[in-house]
Amino acid sequence: MLAGKHILLIVSGGIAAYKALELIRLLRAEGASVTCALSRAAAQFVTPLSLQALSENRVYSDLFSLTDESEMGHIQLSRAADLLVVAPASADLLARMAAGLADDLAATLLLATDKKVLVAPAMNVRMWLHPATQENMAKLVARGIAVVGPEEGPMACNEFGPGRLAEPPAILEAIRALLEKEGKLAGKHVLVTSGPTHEPIDPVRYIANRSSGRQGHAIAAALAGLGARVTLVSGPVALPDPIGVSVRKVETAEQMLAACKAALPADAAVMAAAVADWRVADVAVQKIKKGSEAKAPTLTLVPNPDILAALSEPGALRPKLVVGFAAETENVVQHAQEKRMRKGCDWIVANDVSPASGVMGGEENLVHLITAEGVEHWPRLPKTEVARRLAERIAEALL
Ligand code: CTP
Repeated sequence: MLAGKHILLIVSGGIAAYKALELIRLLRAEGASVTCALSRAAAQFVTPLSLQALSENRVYSDLFSLTDESEMGHIQLSRAADLLVVAPASADLLARMAAGLADDLAATLLLATDKKVLVAPAMNVRMWLHPATQENMAKLVARGIAVVGPEEGPMACNEFGPGRLAEPPAILEAIRALLEKEGKLAGKHVLVTSGPTHEPIDPVRYIANRSSGRQGHAIAAALAGLGARVTLVSGPVALPDPIGVSVRKVETAEQMLAACKAALPADAAVMAAAVADWRVADVAVQKIKKGSEAKAPTLTLVPNPDILAALSEPGALRPKLVVGFAAETENVVQHAQEKRMRKGCDWIVANDVSPASGVMGGEENLVHLITAEGVEHWPRLPKTEVARRLAERIAEALL
């Protein structure tokens, strides 16, 4: 799907540099051609030879190599590319980009280009959170540089937090979103919900659930990757906004419903959010004090609006295809089939969220697609791959 596209992949130093190899493989499988340029530090982590073997293209690694300059100058190198991708992008290279330095080949290529640039940062969590890096990122984003990741998780330095390089499939998705403006879903508007909702108890407390938003965000990214205009209505999540997607941030189910209605009309809607079924009837205006009484307060709950059911109601504004999710811990398919009928949606993506499945909050998902025609059992797949398959199916259904 990226046939004929040429990517200039700039690899900077860092433990995650080895993942550039997988990214090259994925890009080539999509039909893209890849030329690699290494920063000086990158060669400590990944060899030019392996990059060359996978890309089947010459690897550029030093600004002052006369043969490189005579064969293909640095200006020409970036001119030949449809997109520059920096993966991994170290704190150092991001800082040099922000400052406009040209002290090695990688930085020079990035300064000499007028092409779109995508960076995939990867570094230690403290380096990522440091105000210097955050200010550099803000500058780069303001200049129109696209960003994918970093992701949160355990890191090579035995710490936990944001700083991990986005997984190669997520980087591929971001590349698609930037390059495939004329995809199968061009001209279509798709509404996606994602994440949990937070239902306040008082000004400092709320009721929430374990949804990470990973699946919903991946679906929004995959749909954008096929060229759709995507509105993502998201509850509170710790994820970056997917590239090329309009994001509306909300907290409660009622706000989510209002944002969804405001986003209509849409050709399709995918409701992947884990919406709280109930909210507190009377939200306390002030923080509820423990006081001296031993008696715990009783919370009275009232039902929240069902957003999926509301969008599925027949009417002029009903999207042509409404897709719901069913998070189940037992009798997954049967409960999901009943849910499809009860909510009036067209498809249900049913997933097993029992603790044994390890799916909730994780990277993978095990789903069954339930339509009017029957049930498809999909294998256990990364959430990005579930998203891709679903986006392809939606594109077919909207044809
Ligand atoms: N959903 C919604 N609004 C709600 C509750 C759920 O839009 N207030 C949507 C979810 O986004 C999902 C689907 O409904 O697409 C199913 O959510 P789930 O929590 O599995 O279903 P419930 O309606 O809560 O049913 P139950 O608790 O009986 O399983």
